[in-house]
Amino acid sequence: MERDQKHFLNWHCNHHSCITPYCRCLILSVCLMIGLIHLAHAQADAMDTFIKFKNQDNVVQLLKPEELNTFSRQTILNIFEVHERRERQYKAYPVQPVLDRIFGQGWRAADEIVFSCKDGYQPSIPVAKFLAYDAYLAVASADGSPFILDNTLQNHEVVELGPVYLVWDNLKFPILLAEGAADMPYQIIGIELAAFATRFPGMFPPARVSAEVKRGFLHFRKYCMACHTINGQGGGKAPELNYPISVTEYFKPEYLKRWIDDPASLRYNTTMPALAAEIPEREKVLEEIIAYLTAMQRVKHTPPAKNSKK
Ligand code: HEC
Repeated sequence: MERDQKHFLNWHCNHHSCITPYCRCLILSVCLMIGLIHLAHAQADAMDTFIKFKNQDNVVQLLKPEELNTFSRQTILNIFEVHERRERQYKAYPVQPVLDRIFGQGWRAADEIVFSCKDGYQPSIPVAKFLAYDAYLAVASADGSPFILDNTLQNHEVVELGPVYLVWDNLKFPILLAEGAADMPYQIIGIELAAFATRFPGMFPPARVSAEVKRGFLHFRKYCMACHTINGQGGGKAPELNYPISVTEYFKPEYLKRWIDDPASLRYNTTMPALAAEIPEREKVLEEIIAYLTAMQRVKHTPPAKNSKK
């Protein structure tokens, strides 16, 4: 064994000695060039990031984050940053004037707004919420510090917020604090007006189910589908939960409940956040979500092929 190691070292040294200064210089230059190319690509990526605005299936506008100032006036917004559990200030644009200018007033009568994010997160937020509360598109930290945050809800993952981050004036409307971080997508690259029933038909529970299952479906839409898919529809940040085998079929019921309540108590270092602690009637919400997932065992559709995903 020892001899083998020596042999290997010898071979390695001999080989090394063949690298003449000329070779070294050449290798260094190539490395430098590769580095420069990477840097140029990274900068081009940042500069080429467009936010795609869609109405149903039609692309209405492609916008760079810095072009938002032609639609709305930038302000400094102070919020309670739910992901970090502290107050923070952002440079941000009010959402309503942006949507008015891009989609026309008609967006106000639409059903939902679906946000697509670089990391696969894809929440579908009712238009009514944007009419009732003040939402903003944040584009930078107000103090010029990096536009990132320490996501305490996802095992302290440090995440980039840009190009655009959706925030709410939760100091003016403290009731929003009861919802956790579900409607605060970061890394937004798509903003789309949609009718939920046509955009996500595969998520609906079977006809004639209990009121409990129906409520569970609404909770699932609000708290889970931004990350997870059901029958291939929903967010692409976390595993599919229904097809081909439902989690309610392979998880022991008591562990499924415990997982949603506190994932870290089951799996070390998991990045799934617990169902937000502030949600009213949390225990009931949890049971209704499981009732919905259980009912979905009877509704299995083959997910659409990957490349046909919208
Ligand atoms: C912010 C994203 C996010 C949200 C929101 C979220 N999850 Fe998850 N979930 C994950 C990730 C990531 C995993 C994989 C975690 C792991 O393996 O450690 C996961 C795993 C799971 C699993 C385990 C699947 C398996 O087979 O291992 C279940 C069940 C689950 N989530 C249910 C839910 C439910 C129900 C909700 C809504 C109350 C929810 N999740 C909300 C990100 C999320």
